[in-house]
Amino acid sequence: MEKTFIMVKPDGVQRDLIGQIVERFEKKGFQLNAAKLMLITEELAEKHYGEHKGKPFFNDLVSFITSGPVFAMVWQGENVIASARQMMGKTNPQDALPGTIRGDFGVTVGKNIIHGSDSPESADREIALFFEKEEILSYDKAN
Ligand code: CMP
Repeated sequence: MEKTFIMVKPDGVQRDLIGQIVERFEKKGFQLNAAKLMLITEELAEKHYGEHKGKPFFNDLVSFITSGPVFAMVWQGENVIASARQMMGKTNPQDALPGTIRGDFGVTVGKNIIHGSDSPESADREIALFFEKEEILSYDKAN
């Protein structure tokens, strides 16, 4: 079953949005496989955002994502990578539709609440960057 990496960014944690974000994914019908509150080191930030190295906003991006705790998660389900991106809305919250996480909770592109993998390759890479294999639990529902 497909898996994706989802992270509530420091602004989402500061604004007490973890619960509402987790609830949206649960209610949608996806399965939580792993979750942790953690600080991102500069080294991990540079790996995670490696594709943006050299862009004008890269330094701000790294200093923001390392500025406070993030809530890192792995979610599983059918087509979860694309569905999660629909649920998050466009990268810039000003372009994100109401009803999406960024559309409902965000204002600026730098502080856009949440990150989600954009492809199966990114999902594999990002999950492996943030979680050990033993931390990822896939399970059958009792009912
Ligand atoms: P994310 O999905 O985490 O992936 C890269 C991030 O870079 C993106 O969300 C935005 O938060 C950030 N980003 C993209 N464009 C800009 C920009 N022009 N200025 C600041 N941050 C940006």
